[in-house]
Amino acid sequence: MCGIVGYVGEKSAQDVVIEGLRRLEYRGYDSAGIALVHEGSILSDKKAGKLANLEKDLAEHPLEASTTGIGHTRWATHGAPTDRNAHPHLGQHDRVAVIHNGIIENFAALRGELEDAGVEMRSDTDTEVVSHLLEAEVEAGADLTVAMQRVCQRLAGAFTLVAVDAADPARVVAARRNSPLVVGLGEGENFLGSDVAAFIEHTREALELGQDQVVTITREGVEVTGFDGSPAEGKHYHVDWDLSAAEKDGHDWFMRKEIFEQPHAVADALLGRHSPGGRLQLDEMRLSEQELRDVDKIILVACGTAFYAGLVAKYAIEHWTRIPCEVELAHEFRYRDPILTQDTLVVAISQSGETADTLMAIRHARAQGSRVLAICNTNGSTIPRESDAVIYTHAGPEIGVASTKGFSTQLVASYLLGLYLAQVRGTMYGDEIRGVVHELEQMPGHIQGILDRKDAIYALAADLADARSVLFLGRHAGFPVALEGALKLKELAYIHAEGFAAGELKHGPIALIEEGLPVFCVVPPQGRDQLHDKMISAIQEIRARGARTLLLAEEDDPAVAPYADSVIYLPRVPVLLQPLVAVVPLQLFACELASRMGHDVDQPRNLAKSVTVE
Ligand code: G6P
Repeated sequence: MCGIVGYVGEKSAQDVVIEGLRRLEYRGYDSAGIALVHEGSILSDKKAGKLANLEKDLAEHPLEASTTGIGHTRWATHGAPTDRNAHPHLGQHDRVAVIHNGIIENFAALRGELEDAGVEMRSDTDTEVVSHLLEAEVEAGADLTVAMQRVCQRLAGAFTLVAVDAADPARVVAARRNSPLVVGLGEGENFLGSDVAAFIEHTREALELGQDQVVTITREGVEVTGFDGSPAEGKHYHVDWDLSAAEKDGHDWFMRKEIFEQPHAVADALLGRHSPGGRLQLDEMRLSEQELRDVDKIILVACGTAFYAGLVAKYAIEHWTRIPCEVELAHEFRYRDPILTQDTLVVAISQSGETADTLMAIRHARAQGSRVLAICNTNGSTIPRESDAVIYTHAGPEIGVASTKGFSTQLVASYLLGLYLAQVRGTMYGDEIRGVVHELEQMPGHIQGILDRKDAIYALAADLADARSVLFLGRHAGFPVALEGALKLKELAYIHAEGFAAGELKHGPIALIEEGLPVFCVVPPQGRDQLHDKMISAIQEIRARGARTLLLAEEDDPAVAPYADSVIYLPRVPVLLQPLVAVVPLQLFACELASRMGHDVDQPRNLAKSVTVE
């Protein structure tokens, strides 16, 4: 969702804010805007479209220098993505400027009230009401911090708000409810951001804020309170990655860089997770062994790519632990009154840790007495903070909107969870667990092997650049890979793509097969005779009907060549771990195809990296 930056210090606020917005643009890119405080007035500029439009306008119409400012990149909810609806929004006397991420659910009532009082609205957004309410408070004598506290008490919904007051130039005030906001702690300067990428080049010291808190930053310090004004404290933490991790490092797209980072990311996700004696240890597993032994059902909840990681997790966790697992889209789970008890373990998978649908799902689960474990990549984000336990994926910042290393490290964390449960509950012997861990430790090398053969996949993408529809088939743990392959293509190339379970083909989807239709097929490892052979049969069936078969199969699998138009060979790995290698060619394919089509791979149309509204 929207990217938010706030700054007060000694540097040019415009430079700091624009640089921060650039790093946050993956969150939303419908419009961008900035507000600076200069000699008792607000200077503002905002433009529809990507940040580059705003930068161009600022170059043509420079703003006066200032050391206090806020900035925003938008992912539109209320009101079309136009200049007029871009943030910041100003109060009617241009004294207060506000930026916002989230949705003010009672905005219609507040807007009616303001209009009745004679306020003239200048946008179609829900946000604008906040600027008028704040301005009324400061004009009546409150300072901006108190004004924010009072106004927040009147708001319903989810929001991060950041505001400046023209009459109070050395202060930026922010508030959060169900929406992300972190503080960057500098010397003689302080920062606000939707996430730490906003200020990582200036400081790696950060403050995590709780729910319903207001934070005031000045050059000298940071003050946190509740919405009611009561003193509160943020939680200080050190960001364990630096600026270089947030740069493209010679790649054309962040997504491509992140695909190529997977050998490292997977290795990092495994690092330090077992003792010299070979026992698994998960530091952030705050649930006791007894609590884990009592678990009688696991429900994995997630959205998008993380949901597909959950589908893979089900195969592995059920097999290793014999605990029944369900996998649900978080938004469906939340609103269907699921059966939850204190022995249900709800596993929330989320790269960002801020996806509103997933957050609401875990809140519901905890309210029913269930325990929640988060698999998450973002330290200090809301979902792990509100969970009973967490397994961090340690993938480093993921900036490309389409998740890649986020997915592969979610798989690793899911495998670790399954093995850990098996260890605690005694459903696997120690040497069996060590055997799987050993196989996992080979994965970085295997993934690197696939990346080294990227040219063959790029050639395939060049060949298929005109495809209007592509199907993906898989079985067992290969089925979620098929779904993920299709999602990547939809997200990035905007072409029709569907993933199917190969066994389901004959029950309907086979009707879609026509001459020349490209179909990717994830062939299970040969060791799984039945699965493998049934997949080969499905491939024969579609080939007989004219499909162009693009097979992902084990490198020494002799059965595939007769039925393949192309084969991408995968290393020999256990069936449950195959998704970790099989997904990589599909990521490369989608990235390359979209890039060739001239699409913005890092910022696909209509999408946002982290969807912080329900
Ligand atoms: C958005 C992104 C997807 C992502 C999903 C879940 O829809 O576009 O790439 O998979 O959110 O995000 P999360 O941060 O919860 O993993």
